[in-house]
Amino acid sequence: MAATHDTPTTAPIGRSTPRVEGPLKVSGTAQYTADFHVPGTLYAVPVEATIANGRVVTLDTAAAETMPGVRAILHRENIEKIFRSIPEPGFAGICEERRPPFEDDVVRYYGQYIALAVADTFETATAAADAVRVTYDKNKPNVAADLEADDEPAVILATFGPQHRVQSQRGDAEAAFASAPVKLDQTYVTPAETHNPIELHATTAIWDGSTLTLYESSQGVVNLQGVLAQMFGLPKEHVRVITKFVGSGFGGKLFPWTHCALAAAAARQLGRPVKLVLSRKMMFQTVGHRPRTQQRVRLGATPDGKLVALQHDYVYHRSMLDAHHEDCGEATPFQYSVPNLQVTFGRAKRHIGAAADMRGPGRVPGLYATESAMNELADTLKIDPVRLRVLNEPTIDEGLGLPFSSRHVLECFALGAEQFGWSKRTPQVGSMQRDGVILGWGMAGCSWLAELFAAAAYVQLRDDGTARVACATQDIGTGTYTILAQLAAQKTGVPLDKVEVALGDTALPAGPLSGGSMATGSLVPAVFQAADKAIASLLTVATTTPGSPFEACQPADLACAGGRVFVKADGATGGVPFAEVLRRANLRLVTGSGTSAATVGNPQPQFSTHSFGCHFVEVTWQPEIAQLRVSRVVTVIDAGKIINPLAARNQIEGAVVMGIGMVLFEHTSYDPQTGAPINSNLADYIVAVNADVPPIAVHFLEFPDTELNEVGARGIGEIGTAGVAAAITAAVHHATGVRVRELPVKIEALLA
Ligand code: MOS
Repeated sequence: MAATHDTPTTAPIGRSTPRVEGPLKVSGTAQYTADFHVPGTLYAVPVEATIANGRVVTLDTAAAETMPGVRAILHRENIEKIFRSIPEPGFAGICEERRPPFEDDVVRYYGQYIALAVADTFETATAAADAVRVTYDKNKPNVAADLEADDEPAVILATFGPQHRVQSQRGDAEAAFASAPVKLDQTYVTPAETHNPIELHATTAIWDGSTLTLYESSQGVVNLQGVLAQMFGLPKEHVRVITKFVGSGFGGKLFPWTHCALAAAAARQLGRPVKLVLSRKMMFQTVGHRPRTQQRVRLGATPDGKLVALQHDYVYHRSMLDAHHEDCGEATPFQYSVPNLQVTFGRAKRHIGAAADMRGPGRVPGLYATESAMNELADTLKIDPVRLRVLNEPTIDEGLGLPFSSRHVLECFALGAEQFGWSKRTPQVGSMQRDGVILGWGMAGCSWLAELFAAAAYVQLRDDGTARVACATQDIGTGTYTILAQLAAQKTGVPLDKVEVALGDTALPAGPLSGGSMATGSLVPAVFQAADKAIASLLTVATTTPGSPFEACQPADLACAGGRVFVKADGATGGVPFAEVLRRANLRLVTGSGTSAATVGNPQPQFSTHSFGCHFVEVTWQPEIAQLRVSRVVTVIDAGKIINPLAARNQIEGAVVMGIGMVLFEHTSYDPQTGAPINSNLADYIVAVNADVPPIAVHFLEFPDTELNEVGARGIGEIGTAGVAAAITAAVHHATGVRVRELPVKIEALLA
């Protein structure tokens, strides 16, 4: 077994490191987007459509416009030009809703913005938005909240047949399934879920001549800059986006939404800064959600547990306009070894706002389906579910025909089973009890992609012995400030508390999205290269400064480590602090710049790069009072080198909690009459809270994946949510005998 996360180290990388920005947050001095106050700011509140399908016929703004303090009611007839945007080369120009706000009078989902009230105060703008009178030409929306009628796979195929697309294929899955000695054919349903970060989406737009500055709660300032430049017809360098702190996003803040353009357009038109903060209700309507999915999984196997066929056919809902792809089949081609496989997908158009990535997009619902099917197959075969997985462990990625850069699934299972005590499991339903309650034990595997975005960064060494590292990525609460500081400290030898981190500003070198669990890995090459170049510059200074102790040396004779410049041959104990070298040269600083090359989108990869893991879960079930609790979780993650075990553990714990919420509570319901999300508030949309959270033991394997970057670090933001639902529903079955194939697990289903 490789070293686990508790291995002590004095190096910055691999050391459990409290968040460097923690004091700012706990003292309330960290400025989140809505905290930025610019003199003269006006407040904007959107008018939301109260239908989901139809047209705006009349928009009466007279009453609103005459209210004291109202500066404008903007709508389709009077707003100045906002252009569309298109994707740009690289991972850029991305947004989920291409249609600029107010482009036409068609209403395609409930809550779509149809006007914008702008006033001196938020309260006045709210009142003015309420005072706008709208009439509609209204049609019945299709929100198909009730998928029960479509549960039959034949119905799905009949309805969406022509749209079903083949995503991955090998062998002859149909024939192999037909002739398989043991078959499983089940459909799994996951509901729409809504991102509910505590910090609401917020924008402040400021124009200075033809330059736009936008404070935004964003997971991708660089992408947002590119989209806004297109929407307002500006050179990119005339748009600056700033995101200093984010109260999380879960994917909902990855890409721009229509309120950004509205705030910017209003500020342009009125010549004043404009602040727009969404309501919690709007968070359910206009800024994305995880779409509902319906997934048919067919497994064919031999009686001794070897998979011979795997078919995964999934359908998810989409809005009328967006192109979001909920890639439920992403992991299916390589999770297990199987000679005959087919993955297909289809979409179902609904009068619902655009879907979006939500923590573990695609794979989280996808692995719920396929891992549940594996658990069910194990029960059918009377084989332990861990054993079934071990029997079907692949040696290569059979979808791509490529070796894995690093895959240690079997070690994950072994450690997880040992830590959980899995060998004590008795498979019969209801056969395990403790203190008078029934126990259910379940497990599942998980995986998440590991790729790099392009990134650029600079590192500076300064004459006071401090360093600065800068990159236009952002910290969405996951620990990126700290990671940047650790990377710079590792290379320069400057202590962590003397490293200044600058991020969240497009004025800095272009950095990656905080998305796909890819920010950390993407930063490593850029920061390391930048640090190396800063050091190279320093060594040149050391050899060229008159009177320097290194004047007689060549840069190649020198090294810089532990914050000191020294002659290699003499060893690190000699030499002088780098700050002294700079002072002697009368230099405030030296700078090095570095870049990371993207691996995402590489048409000819040499390796299949993913993180892996597993969850072992215990539930307690008390049928007398119909109480189901998740009582214990053991999670093992194989994500390469863990740079900050403290933050990483926190990420996995949070992700598991989100998985518990997914299984037990979370679902967004749409009113079939109006198309409105019904439970669009935090009282009715239930997320897991501390009272729902059991002890979660997180273990990391540490097999550095140096194919990906020098440190061998992959991301850990999302993988923890994947697989949790299948593990818990297996435990629920073990305790209750009830197979729940539609999330969330409702008590009614367990009483039936
Ligand atoms: Mo994550 S859904 O890529 O923020």
